[in-house]
Amino acid sequence: MPVALSIPSSVNYSTGQIHASNKQTKVTKLKDLQGVFCDTQAADEMDAETCIYQVEMLPAQSVEGELNFGVTHLEAGIIGDEFYMTRGHFHQRIEQAEFYLGCQGEGLLLLQDEQGEVRVEKVFAGSIHHIGGYLAHRLVNTGSMRLSAMAVWPAVAGHNYEALKQNGFNVSVVKDGDHYRLVEK
Ligand code: PA5
Ligand code: NI
Repeated sequence: MPVALSIPSSVNYSTGQIHASNKQTKVTKLKDLQGVFCDTQAADEMDAETCIYQVEMLPAQSVEGELNFGVTHLEAGIIGDEFYMTRGHFHQRIEQAEFYLGCQGEGLLLLQDEQGEVRVEKVFAGSIHHIGGYLAHRLVNTGSMRLSAMAVWPAVAGHNYEALKQNGFNVSVVKDGDHYRLVEK
């Protein structure tokens, strides 16, 4: 059976906007991120319908040997003093790796291993990130505009959100004047 490749016909590399007739957009709102932000009171005071990020992609493949392609658009903002971020995940097949490629905006990629050690890489237009296997990954928007990053990952990788449910990431990224600061939790 022929495999429908999950690549768009073209991508605007400076915005991450993808062009494809069968594009799907998954919107993640504040109400979908219960327990992700430290300041729960500040989160509760915000509109639960606020869009935090959207992922554009084509219908996902799950065929062994294939690749998926998607783009994350993470809005700029803070909750309490913590910057907007994605939920973050390990892969279901934890050994599977992924590439992220920065398109626009400024942010951080948090990489946390199974022992809870965190490493941080700067994300910006043109940045490229190899997310090795066995690493949970999360994007954080530390800038004042939308952060967009393309991603390519093995179709069989899957997303495991459960593994981080208990303790999450050990570092949060907070606003500190015009800069950001990493805070150990
Ligand atoms: O495959 C990826 O790692 C990304 O496309 C993410 O799924 C995307 O950034 C959204 O993050 P999360 O899946 O943690 O909600
Ligand atoms: Ni991933």
